[in-house]
Amino acid sequence: MLDPRDFAAFRAFAHRVLDDVLDGFARVGSGPAWRPIPADVKAKLAQPVPRAPAPLADVYAEFRETIEPFENGNRHPRFFGWVHGTGTAAGMLAELLAAALNANAGGREHSAVYVERAVLAWSAQIFGFPPTASGILTSGTSLANLIALVVARTAFAGAAVRTDGLRGRRLVAYASQAAHRSIPAAFDIAGLGSAALRLVATDADGRIDVAALRAALARDRAAGDEPFLVVGTAGSVDIGAIDDLGALAAVCAEQRLWLHVDGAFGALAVLSPDHRHLVAGIERADSLAFDFHKWLHVPYDAGCVLVRDPHLHAQAFAHAADYLTPAAAGTAAGQPWFADYGPELSRRFRALAIWFAFKEHGTERLGAAIARNCHQAQRLGAHIERSADLVLAAPVALNIVCFRFDDGVGDAPELDRLNAAIAIDLQERGSAVPSTTRVGGRLVIRVNLTNHRVTDHDLDELLVAVRDAARRLRAAAQTTGPAHA
Ligand SMILES: Cc1ncc(COP(=O)(O)O)c(C=O)c1O
Repeated sequence: MLDPRDFAAFRAFAHRVLDDVLDGFARVGSGPAWRPIPADVKAKLAQPVPRAPAPLADVYAEFRETIEPFENGNRHPRFFGWVHGTGTAAGMLAELLAAALNANAGGREHSAVYVERAVLAWSAQIFGFPPTASGILTSGTSLANLIALVVARTAFAGAAVRTDGLRGRRLVAYASQAAHRSIPAAFDIAGLGSAALRLVATDADGRIDVAALRAALARDRAAGDEPFLVVGTAGSVDIGAIDDLGALAAVCAEQRLWLHVDGAFGALAVLSPDHRHLVAGIERADSLAFDFHKWLHVPYDAGCVLVRDPHLHAQAFAHAADYLTPAAAGTAAGQPWFADYGPELSRRFRALAIWFAFKEHGTERLGAAIARNCHQAQRLGAHIERSADLVLAAPVALNIVCFRFDDGVGDAPELDRLNAAIAIDLQERGSAVPSTTRVGGRLVIRVNLTNHRVTDHDLDELLVAVRDAARRLRAAAQTTGPAHA
């Protein structure tokens, strides 16, 4: 067998590992927010497959040397890049427990299935979906969006589409130009083609232009295309804009279209009493995708799709197989099985860490952390607006602040290069990890706040670091040519 022969020694070793992990949590924020991986470490990580066994302590020593120091950085209070959740120490324990049970949540009669059902029911409750709604936990919102698209397609075209394909029918759908890349990717993967997704213009606040949506629908219908789906965005990845979900629900009800909401992080604004009005209408969606691993800080990976009509959900994914025939009793009972609600048969026990997070913090404390991030974003945005050398690039709708260092020196392309270089400089020094994007064609520094460890002081220090980097990079460019060119 592969378990330890000397269990007492393993127990002592495991306690040591847990102590090291807890030390790591206690130190979070004291070191750099990110560090580059040296070439020799990359080489060590690219070694050929180990053929001979090695003592576990040696394997762990290698982890400590080559893996642990070069972590993603998203546990750090000054990690502001992309949309990363920060995890929690208790979430780590929950993952340990899930790994210990090593459940396969594809189906059958065991506790992991019931825990997943519980967290799905809680989610339905939070978002105002009916208690009969179905859903499934996924690796993230990308997969959740794909599942929702497949359900919407099958609901519209009928179950025969699963065997016969579209047979030349031109199904088309709509999302805003600010939609996440996983939306066109889903159309591509599902075989509808990404061109079947019409990207509708946004207004000055980055929200879908509902009049332009109506015009596109009329144009496509007149051309013989078959609109079937509108995807609303609750929290655009670039600037955090939230579509008018109530208006989208009205269009969809009137034109008999499926409304899917990509609420990867923004949907969770529903947990903050001060912000839930921003996502009003979300309860009218036919399906909703969101992540627990972003703004609820459950360890990666933990996403979710909810589907209002459980029959339409199963109609899109259920498969029969003799060796998987459910039974009336025994281990093979427990219907319906999650394998019939998504593309995966074997599935890890994702629900446990989510269950722990809800139980430990309750929706009130989780919502308070979300509200805090939104208030921090407003404060940072206001500070930038008062600054002579910083420009706010987009309204702060939720938890994302996009800005540029722009003291009026240099033309637009030079400032684009400088701002890109500032972001890299901060990352490589480990002082903070912002990311970048483009707003209105201009490169901007992007600060995303889905971080329960960040303080106002961290954000003040971020701006100090930005200005310091700008000064150093300018000085270096003057002596050696543009380092950031
Ligand atoms: C709006 C939006 N949709 C979808 C996704 C994809 O989510 P995931 O990375 O969990 O697949 C993201 C990720 O940031 C997002 O911001």
